[in-house]
Order: sequence, then C-alpha cells, then structure tokens
Amino acid sequence: MIENDVLAKFKEVFGDGGEIGVYFAPGRVNMIGEHTDYNGGHVFPCALTIGTYGAVRKRTDKKLRFYSMNFEKLGVLESSIEELKPEKEAEWTNYPKGVMWAFAEKGMKADCGLDLLLFGNIPNGSGLSSSASVEVLTGYILKDLFGFDVTNQDLALIGQFSERNFNGVNCGIMDQFAIAMGKEGHAIYLDTATLDYTYAPIELKDAKIVISCSNKKRGLGDSKYNERRSECETALAELQNVIKIAALGELTKEQFEAHKDAIKDEVRRKRAKHAVYENQRTIQAVNALKNNDVALFGKLMNESHVSLRDDYEVTGKELDTLVEKAWEIDGVIGSRMTGAGFGGCTVSIVKNDAVDTFIKEVGDAYKKEIGYEADFYVVEIGDGPKKLI
Ligand code: GLA
Repeated sequence: MIENDVLAKFKEVFGDGGEIGVYFAPGRVNMIGEHTDYNGGHVFPCALTIGTYGAVRKRTDKKLRFYSMNFEKLGVLESSIEELKPEKEAEWTNYPKGVMWAFAEKGMKADCGLDLLLFGNIPNGSGLSSSASVEVLTGYILKDLFGFDVTNQDLALIGQFSERNFNGVNCGIMDQFAIAMGKEGHAIYLDTATLDYTYAPIELKDAKIVISCSNKKRGLGDSKYNERRSECETALAELQNVIKIAALGELTKEQFEAHKDAIKDEVRRKRAKHAVYENQRTIQAVNALKNNDVALFGKLMNESHVSLRDDYEVTGKELDTLVEKAWEIDGVIGSRMTGAGFGGCTVSIVKNDAVDTFIKEVGDAYKKEIGYEADFYVVEIGDGPKKLI
C-alpha cells in the first residue's frame, strides 16, 4: 500500500517516534464545463482515486519542515509558521504554506510547526489539479491536527483563497471543490454562482474514462489563465451596459446572441460566447446523463473541445492532436481537453473493447506529430480527503 511506503519514507527523512498520521486527497478530472467556474456557470468534475498522500507529525517548536517524494533533489525545505510568505525558492511548499497562511488569516492559526512529507501519484503539471490536491490535503490535515471547525466545503474555499492570494492564480472554485467534496462513482454538478451542487452517478457500464496526458507542461499557462479571466470580466462589463446580469453564466444562448454586439472586440466576444455556450452545454450534458444518453453526453464533450479550441483558444497543438485523433477511433464516445488547457490532459469516454486500440493509436499518432510520448491512464472516480493511518 502506498500509505505504508509514505510512512516509511517519513520515518527515514524525519525520524521515528511521536504520532505520525497519513492522509490522502484526490486529484480531479472535469468531464465538462470548462472555464465556466469564474463566470458563474456550471461545472461537472469528479475526484479520482489518484492524488496526494501526506505523512505528518506535530513539532514542539514553530518550524516547518517539508519533503516531497516527487522532488527528492530538493531535499528538506524549511520554513516557520511565523513567516508564511510566498517565495520562489520555497518551490512546491508554497502550496501547503499558502493554506496555513489562509487558515491564519481566517483566525485559525496553528500553534506549532509540522514535519510534512508528501507523495503524489497525479502526473505533475498534468492539469489534474495536483496543486489543489495539496491545498485540500493540507487543510484537511490542519483541521484534524488542530481541531479547526471547518467543513469540507470550507476547505475548498480556503484552498482557493490561498491559491489566489498566496500563489497568485486567480482560479475559480472547481478544483478545490471537486477534491474536497469528491464521492466515489459520482461526478459533482456544481453551480459556481451559488455553490449548490448535486452528485450524479457515473455509470458507464461498457465504457471507461481515459485520461491522455500530453506531457506538455503548463508553463506560461497561469498568466494566460489570468488573461482569459480578465477578458471575460471586460466582456461582462460591456454586456452590463445593455442587460442586467451579474455573471456570463446567467445568459442563455439566445440572450447572448441578442446582446453580443455590446462587446466591442471580436476576441472578447468569442471568449464570452464560449463561457455562455459551455455553461448551457454543461446543463444539457448533465440532463443527457440523467436520461442515460451517454452518446449525447459524448457529443457535447466534443463540442466543448471545439469551443475551447476555436473561441476560447486554450488548447494548442498537443491537446488538439490527442483529441482529434481520439475522435477518429471507433468506440470513442467523447473526447475533450480538461482543466485550464495550454497543455495538460484530455478526458475521453471509451468503450471497454476500444481502450487498447485507443491507447495504441492515439499514442502513435501523438508521438509522430509532436515528437514525444503521451501517457494514458484509465481512471476511477474516488472519494474526497481522508485519514489513512
Ligand atoms: C483551472 C482552474 C479552475 C477552472 C479550470 C478551467 O483548473 O483552477 O478553477 O477555471 O482551470 O475550467
């Protein structure tokens, strides 16, 4: 079991003794509803059974000592609960530190330091929310160790607060929410305007969810992410001159078409169109699933990709290659990029008997076109954060 390896490594790095807990928080994949969460729209993500493991022990002083099995070369990185500020050289530890800072901002200050060792089996930079997984994991650990009175939904909000205000990515709520509220076998249909949500069972019977990882790291993606976000904000402000709305997600397609000329710039009009249409597509897709119409769900996934490619322009050659090749394969019900884009992963629903062909053919075509390999994961939908040991 992974948790035993993580515990053994903790003892090797930080020494034995005391009370050591081992925890887990999942990664997430979004089935549909992309770049809608900061536009007051709907999303439909699910937590995965892959994620981040954390072994932790309280210290008697104020020191923080961090170690990641994914970045062993960095060794032990040290800090203190008295100086929680983002620093480039703090590397990945800016995520757990950000969450500790966010708790303190909200009046929940840890009264001692920690030794924390992490291991993640989410591919790094894949767009499956490894950072949100670390954030929710940290929050869950703090709640458990210090008895802070927070719900899992609070953990999502605190994680998002830290990502925005400590780590500088102006993200929506989807990732942290999907992770903190995950439920085995279910996707979460979340209205990001109200945080109302329902769980929808994902019963694919003769099909699987396959994630194709482009191995293109996001890199500049985060700044592009903030740019898309502000394009939507400007478009919203222009629309508010002609129609009373608080978010793009309030618009139907018809309303958007009737008022879109208020948006003065062609590029911004395309961005807003995506936000409106993608939200409507997500509502329709969840209804299709309720009616057991997986074929329609898949078709809407494909349309989502086209919109992200042509109107929102966040796909790029790597993700387009993966998806466009997938569409050619018999037994593929739907395929689209997932997450922020600009690299990362695609998500596909593939008939059981087509999975091997899918991996071989998409893999070969990707290698030929892009020059390096893609990785493939047949994934299961898992629960939210938990204590394992
Ligand atoms: C990233 C963000 C989310 C969401 C997606 C795009 O994953 O963290 O809040 O905006 O991109 O749907």
